[in-house]
Amino acid sequence: TPQSAQTRAPREQWTGQIGFIIAAIGSAVGLGNIWRFPGVAYENGGGAFLIPYLVALLTAGIPILFLDYAIGHRFRGSAPTAFRRLGGRTGRGLESLGWFQVAIAFVIGLYYTVVIAWAVSYFVFSFDLRWGDDAVGFFTADYLRVSEPGFSLDFVPGVLIPLVLVWIVTIIVLAGGVAKGLQRANTWALPVLLVAFLALVVRALFLDGAAEGLNALFTPDFAALADPNVWIAAYSQIFFSLSIAFGIMITYASYRRRRSNLTGPGLVVAFANSSFEILAGIGVFATLGYFAFQQGVAVDELDRLTGVGLSFMTFPAIVSQMPGGALFGCLFFGSLALAGFTSLVSVLQVVSAAVQEKFGLSVRAAAVSVGGVSAVLSIFGFSTTTGLLALDVVDQWANNVGIVASAVITTILLMWVLRRGPELRDHLNAISTFKVGRSWIFLVSVLVPIVLGYMLISRIITLIV
Ligand code: PHE
Repeated sequence: TPQSAQTRAPREQWTGQIGFIIAAIGSAVGLGNIWRFPGVAYENGGGAFLIPYLVALLTAGIPILFLDYAIGHRFRGSAPTAFRRLGGRTGRGLESLGWFQVAIAFVIGLYYTVVIAWAVSYFVFSFDLRWGDDAVGFFTADYLRVSEPGFSLDFVPGVLIPLVLVWIVTIIVLAGGVAKGLQRANTWALPVLLVAFLALVVRALFLDGAAEGLNALFTPDFAALADPNVWIAAYSQIFFSLSIAFGIMITYASYRRRRSNLTGPGLVVAFANSSFEILAGIGVFATLGYFAFQQGVAVDELDRLTGVGLSFMTFPAIVSQMPGGALFGCLFFGSLALAGFTSLVSVLQVVSAAVQEKFGLSVRAAAVSVGGVSAVLSIFGFSTTTGLLALDVVDQWANNVGIVASAVITTILLMWVLRRGPELRDHLNAISTFKVGRSWIFLVSVLVPIVLGYMLISRIITLIV
């Protein structure tokens, strides 16, 4: 049977702890760090946001990151396999929780690729500032052609070509396996990302108006701390940003050697991710400060400060006005593409590993089949004008509802129904340098389900109403 074939083959491994850390940072540092964190922090109390953000990191982000590591490493499998083994006699039922995470990962992969493809296009457009004077019109009408035939299934050629390219590279990386594919791609991409992004931040800091931008971002509005939505924003930023609760960290941890320090590297990954996030806040707001200065307005009069609007409408407009804008544009869109790519491969590995184990496929066969199916779906689904409108809806449900639901179900099931807290804690502590105690069990079994349960309900209500 596939399962017995699976137990006979030795599990793939990172070449060492550093390889794992690099890949895990690559996964965590993604679009969320660059286009989501700065605007979210700005809108939720500015400098004061750092308080709920840190609280969320310490009380939910790192504890769930550890939980993911413990599950993946102890039960040595992708999400469905690990949950099945963890469940013992109830394993079949638990396996479906793993498949739920795989489904979320699969869906996220479909549209994450599209955004990376846009970033690749815009990297090329930066050379000659192709968007001209009207960046918004260029993006919607010329590039995406959203306004054209309304709901038509015509391909958007400008999106199609980079999208196919991104898929080809992704499949090649996945087919290379853990050490020769994922680890190697991250070892190459992460340093390039870091250098490019640092160059961008330094350049941004020398622009006129940069200081105003930083003031706008960091001036604390302590009154915001009384608003529960600010706290929810912090928790959800941390969740998405750390790539936790949708199978990624379970899968990645399953490729570590049996005797591994789990918590130490976990802290490194978590703090590296937050550092990059703050760095991105500085770079983005210094640039926005310049933009406001150019227009003779205050930073708080600007709009489109997050997500697609920030990256593909506001930033191109700024780049056009800036001396040496072409290089700045290349650095920005190159960073966006690289940060996104190292996250993309991690999310697809969740699907690919699960399929390998379920059907007894080789790494290559799983990579090609999972990559192929996803590629076709994402190309037909999202490179069409209709699909681009669907992207937003899918994003809302997968991120805001799917991941949070997955975290709530996992913690309640593991901690309250199956009562595996002490066992997982002992597993974490076996070799790790940083020991977790009863507070970890408390956070994962009490605080996380309460905070996230509240978040989930309020989200579903806002999405439906
Ligand atoms: N941590 C990623 C980010 O900040 C989230 C993510 C991971 C998204 C993997 C997709 C795939 O963007």
